[in-house]
Amino acid sequence: MSMRKLLGLCVIVLWTGAQPAIATRQAVLSAAVLHTQQVACPGYVASNVSNTDDGFMAELALAGPPCALYGKDIKRLTLDVRFDTKNRLHVHIKDTDGHQFQIPKDVLVLDSGHGVRNTSSNLRFDHFHDDVSGFGFRVSRGDQVIFDTVGHPLIFEDQYIEVTSNLPVDANIYGMGESPDFFRRNPANTTKTLWNRGSPDLFQQNVYGSHSIYMELRDSQFHGTYLHNSHGMDIILTNSTIQYRVLGGTADFYFFSGPSALDVIDQYTELVGRPSRIPYWALGFHNCRYGYKSVYEVNDVIANYSKANIPLEVAWTDIDYMDGTRDFTFDPVNFPLAEMQKQLAYLHARGQKMVLITDPAILYDNSSYGVYARGHEQDVFIKNADGSEFIGQVWPGYTVFPDWFARNTSSWWSGELKRYFDQLPIDGMWIDMNEAASFCTGSCGTGKPAGSIPPYPWTLDPQPPHRVINPSDTFLVPPYAIHNYEVELSDLTIETTARHANGVSEYHVHNLYGHMESKATRDFLVNYRPNQRPFILSRSTFAGSGALVSHWTGDNSASWKDLHISIASSFDFGIFGIPMVGADICGFFGNTTEELCARWIEVGAFYPFSRVHSALAYSPQEIYRWESVAEAGRRALRVRYALLPYFYTNYQRSVENGWPVARPLIFEFPHVPAVVDNDRQLLVGDGILVSPVLVEGATSVAAFFPVGIWYDWYDYSVIKGTNDIVTLSAPLEHVNVHVRGGKIVPTQEPSMTTAESRKNDFGLVVAVDEHGAATGELYVDDGETFDTAARWVQFSYAKKSLSIGQRSGQFKISPLLSKLVLLGVTGVSQVVVNGSSVNVNFKVVNGSTVITGLNIDLNVNSVVALN
Ligand code: GLC
Repeated sequence: MSMRKLLGLCVIVLWTGAQPAIATRQAVLSAAVLHTQQVACPGYVASNVSNTDDGFMAELALAGPPCALYGKDIKRLTLDVRFDTKNRLHVHIKDTDGHQFQIPKDVLVLDSGHGVRNTSSNLRFDHFHDDVSGFGFRVSRGDQVIFDTVGHPLIFEDQYIEVTSNLPVDANIYGMGESPDFFRRNPANTTKTLWNRGSPDLFQQNVYGSHSIYMELRDSQFHGTYLHNSHGMDIILTNSTIQYRVLGGTADFYFFSGPSALDVIDQYTELVGRPSRIPYWALGFHNCRYGYKSVYEVNDVIANYSKANIPLEVAWTDIDYMDGTRDFTFDPVNFPLAEMQKQLAYLHARGQKMVLITDPAILYDNSSYGVYARGHEQDVFIKNADGSEFIGQVWPGYTVFPDWFARNTSSWWSGELKRYFDQLPIDGMWIDMNEAASFCTGSCGTGKPAGSIPPYPWTLDPQPPHRVINPSDTFLVPPYAIHNYEVELSDLTIETTARHANGVSEYHVHNLYGHMESKATRDFLVNYRPNQRPFILSRSTFAGSGALVSHWTGDNSASWKDLHISIASSFDFGIFGIPMVGADICGFFGNTTEELCARWIEVGAFYPFSRVHSALAYSPQEIYRWESVAEAGRRALRVRYALLPYFYTNYQRSVENGWPVARPLIFEFPHVPAVVDNDRQLLVGDGILVSPVLVEGATSVAAFFPVGIWYDWYDYSVIKGTNDIVTLSAPLEHVNVHVRGGKIVPTQEPSMTTAESRKNDFGLVVAVDEHGAATGELYVDDGETFDTAARWVQFSYAKKSLSIGQRSGQFKISPLLSKLVLLGVTGVSQVVVNGSSVNVNFKVVNGSTVITGLNIDLNVNSVVALN
């Protein structure tokens, strides 16, 4: 049975089940008040304002009788304002007694800045008082008020915090997720719920990760706001406000002054952590499928890619390889370890890689499963309130879940991973189902002996009959019901009353589960292979997870809409500081079609993380299956592989500055209102514009071209952008790619693997702007280690002269620069490198000049005159 069917069934049972426990549950849930009307809450009064070197503090006292809207009003609060850096302001409103849960500092290490005087900050903080709503504050950048709570009472209760800020009508808001949606959030009617949910992608609903950062574009400038809080929350846009409704913790806000989109992401990732470095090979093309029947079938897939002449970098295997879908085991019949080892050796001999899946859920079986037995022995699993192990249900049957807060969990996890890696030293890890997903609600195996159900496939036990909800348990049924897609917070995950070893209930830390697993997994890999950059793909993420892992957007569907939305999701993750992101190419659920798959690989070839993946029981969709898809794939991946040095340079920008690799046009053209909601085209870095077909049956695409010169990647023809739509021809196997005038893009001749491609000569695509000038850069290192030498090379072109300058670094770049594509330049008949005329070949195509046969060393400064 497919997971969708399983989960669908699960949801139906939850909604219609007639068991008494479920009836109780429905009754209890309906008692959870939906937020309909505003009870008058008194707000707070500020007093005892004291200035500090880099900010100030004040006391806030409840201004009237408690309103007890969705919890107990906290009477005494502390306002702590700090100008962390010139561009970042920290406003923290917390309970003075310090009882409210806050994210432990070692779970997510935030940059503390250095503290600047308010006079040298780009942001300003003012607080106000009015008799109706009490204390309010404004954050301004120049004369623009970017956050403004004045007129909206602060509500601060133990299980409910409400902060409301005014927004301009029709505001341009981006971010807040994870939630598959259009890139520009509907300013009049958006609710983004942050509660990690492990079931399939549903349009506009909460899914796997929690990222409360949003960016706003106003008057061509961006700013950002991040709420540092792990609780479930709704963030709601109405036509003139943004409102946070949070199930606990403190109001811990950070504001970023921008003013460009890249500046905001830079400032945000400086706070939560820069994206981690990735191995170069991760930028290659990946193939995966849930439902491969054997290692031999995967061998065939690998061979078929090379027969079809499609570059396959990484062969992935899903839970199929496991014995009874238990972590760290190998199916002895269909995926015997010895054959997996052979496959890995084969891949490595050809410069290819292998990644396998691991889930956090551990089969509850102490009779024959050492992974559980050792974990139980070391007391690493999450507990019920009564101290017994919490038992959910995942692929292998009844399962327990590692408690990342427990003292021994990291060492136990590392130990299990070490046994596994010692047998099969795979190249990267895929950590899935880490919201954490469970197929039942409540501790559904409790009371049953460990190992008491037969292994997968098993029957679903969605709602244990003994489960009774205590209506006064406000962790199970908080007074305010966030708009979680499921019925209860505990649905299909660890129950919110389950206990972690630090004494904290799942209620507070649910959204951190995937992040903490990511950290434990990364710690293992960094220790196991010192100095090698790990590659980890995680489904669940939190703020700051980009420093640990990469991400794919989860279980999408083989639909045209999902193809479109995948572009917006990759932009979202750029904002979230996880730039290495992509969607399941050709769609996960459902049978894809030849046409959809062809169009999808044309988009997917430009996702930073490019992987085809499909679900069990749907038709196979390796991209060699149809000739048109294979051809579309070959062509689009040829462009990707030619651009690998450019992707990698952009990724290094992410590592150093947080800048996303996949960018919407509005990030580069913030003064062009027509692109505020453009999520149908995608920029790679700032120089390559991809305009894919996202509509069934279309053979042309209406693409927007901002003012400037844009050169067709393939035939060099020119589009003079006028901030308008241009209709481009787009036959099935063709994706439109344009190079932006003014940019120099480094390339390498594509080969069948990234390792081979890296050895080939470099080229530069010099795309001149209306002044005949262009600039660009190249970053190179060994692509594998942390302590590698590196080199940044700067390029600039003007007046028929190309300068190659060294910005920094000692890495020795071996391949030479042998090719120049001078887009928009003709009349060159002689090339003089550093004063000496050189013998080269010229070709003029469509008003551009292609020069081959150069031998330029990129490790030294050069001037190339093109006379
Ligand atoms: C989850 C993952 C999916 C994977 C499946 C089986 O649904 O999101 O990618 O194929 O589990 O492991």
